[in-house]
Formats: sequence, structure tokens, C-alpha cells
Amino acid sequence: ESGVGKELVAKNIHNSSDRAEGPFIPINCGAIPETMLETELFGHEKGSFTGAYAKKLGLLEIASNGTLFLDEISELSQRLQGKLLRVIETESFFRVGGLREIKVDVRFVAATNRDIKKDVETGEFRPDLYYRIGALTLRIPPLRERREDIPLLVDHIIQSKPEFKHKKLSGKAMEILTNYAWPGNVRELQNVIYRALFLSSGSTIEPHDLSPDLTSGLTVSGRRLEDIEKDHILKVFREVNGQKRKAAEILGVDPKTLYRKLHRYGIDD
Ligand SMILES: Nc1ncnc2c1ncn2[C@@H]1O[C@H](COP(=O)(O)OP(=O)(O)OP(=O)(O)O)[C@@H](O)[C@H]1O
Ligand SMILES: [Mg+2]
Repeated sequence: ESGVGKELVAKNIHNSSDRAEGPFIPINCGAIPETMLETELFGHEKGSFTGAYAKKLGLLEIASNGTLFLDEISELSQRLQGKLLRVIETESFFRVGGLREIKVDVRFVAATNRDIKKDVETGEFRPDLYYRIGALTLRIPPLRERREDIPLLVDHIIQSKPEFKHKKLSGKAMEILTNYAWPGNVRELQNVIYRALFLSSGSTIEPHDLSPDLTSGLTVSGRRLEDIEKDHILKVFREVNGQKRKAAEILGVDPKTLYRKLHRYGIDD
């Protein structure tokens, strides 16, 4: 998905490799028209086409001894997929209009936020390239599948802004953050925290400092029914000082049902 930290992971793979001293070169394959992407990657010789006044080095050469991060690789045209596969297999390439084969020593890391396996099935992505680059695959889960990371990330984001280091989130505000669905993942979380840091007047960030996306309906719809039920059972339970029979009566369920739920939610003693 978008904003989960794909580029950050790629950069970390590079930084912890024996290529760390070499360059890390990211390129977004979905953001550039095909012919331009080709000369970006492969470079060109002087005079190879109208407008090629000088020789241009491609990113394959520039990333030499380092890592080339191919972002949105699923957006590559069939032709460039073929050319890329050839580079990976022969560890060499030709500049556009070039006659001399050039050796490359580059690690490729590729990312996509599409189901690329489906693209292979529908024929949009070359299976040979898929199997080649898919030898080692990492799935970075969306934020809603790792909500336990949210407090850590929030802390990290606050610490990254020295002028706001002293600010904290109230319990209520943190609860809203951990219940939200985060369609924009970590990038969205980052923006929500930056905004709240600027808007909050005191040293505590309160729910009203969070963007309306979080505090209107979405918050509730982002919660799992089970979590809401558990919260409510707990609340009633506290109100009646833990008398199970009384709690069941207020909740309108059979005591047996309540016992089962209490057990399931781990609040039965
Ligand atoms: N685990 C993390 N710890 C700290 N910051 C993170 C983490 N994951 C992501 N970020 C931050 O969130 C932002 C988005 O991350 P990144 O650009 O790597 O995501 P992406 O998956 O490449 O997104 P897109 O698909 O939109 O290109 C960046 O500012 C990044 O620094
Ligand atoms: Mg990215």
C-alpha cells in the first residue's frame, strides 16, 4: 500500500549492506513517460536521437556499486520489462544508441503497491521478470494491521521535531489514533502528528487537535465490532463493581453469554 515505508525499507537494506558506501538511487517508474524513462535508466550516446546533444549517463551507471530502487515497478512497459530483465541476467547493458556493452554491478530493489502476481496472471507483467525480482519478497503490512506500532511511531515523529519534543498525546487522542483505519498509512500518521504539533496550544495534544478525518465518523467505522463490545462490557463491569449477574442484566444478555465473552476477552477475573 501507499505510505507504508517501502522506500525507507529499501534505503535500510542498502545502508546495512556491503554497498552502503555506494549510491542509493531511487526512480519512480510510474512517474515518467516510457521513452524518457528509458534514457533515464540506460543513458544515451551523443547524437543517438534528435535532441541528444551530449552523452548522458543512465541511472544504471550512476548506481554502480550501489542500489537502484525501482519504485512502482509494475508500471514499467512490456518493452522496458524485457530490457531490465536482460540487464539483470547479463549484468550489462547498452546506452541508447550505444554500441559498446557496459558492465554493471548494481543491486536492484523493486517496490509496488499493486498485486503484481495478478498482473502476471493477466499478462501485464512478464513472468520471467517477476520470478527474477521476486526471489526475495517482503510484504510491508498496512498500519491498521500493526496498530501496536502506532505509539512508537508517534513518539518517533514527535522526537524528529526538536522544537516540539516536550509535547505529549493525551490518552484519548492516542486512543483515536490507534482506532483509526489509516488509509494513507505512516505518511498520513506523520501528517496528522505534524498538524497536531502546530495546532495544539499547550503541551498536550487533545482530540480536537487531530484532523476531522479522524474524529468524525471514520474513527468509529475504523473500529472492530469486537473492540467496541469489549470496551462496553468493561465499562459496565466497572460500574457494577464486577458483579457479573448485574452486568449481564444491564447488558441484556444471559449470564452464560456474558461469562463466555468475559473469558474470550480475557477479563474474567
Ligand atoms: N517504520 C517507520 N518509521 C519511521 N518513519 C516511517 C516508517 N515507515 C514509514 N515512515 C515514514 O513515512 C513516510 C512514507 O514512507 P515511504 O516514502 O518509505 O513510503 P512508501 O511505501 O514508499 O510510500 P509510496 O507508496 O506513497 O511511495 C516517510 O516520510 C517515511 O520516513
Ligand atoms: Mg515510495
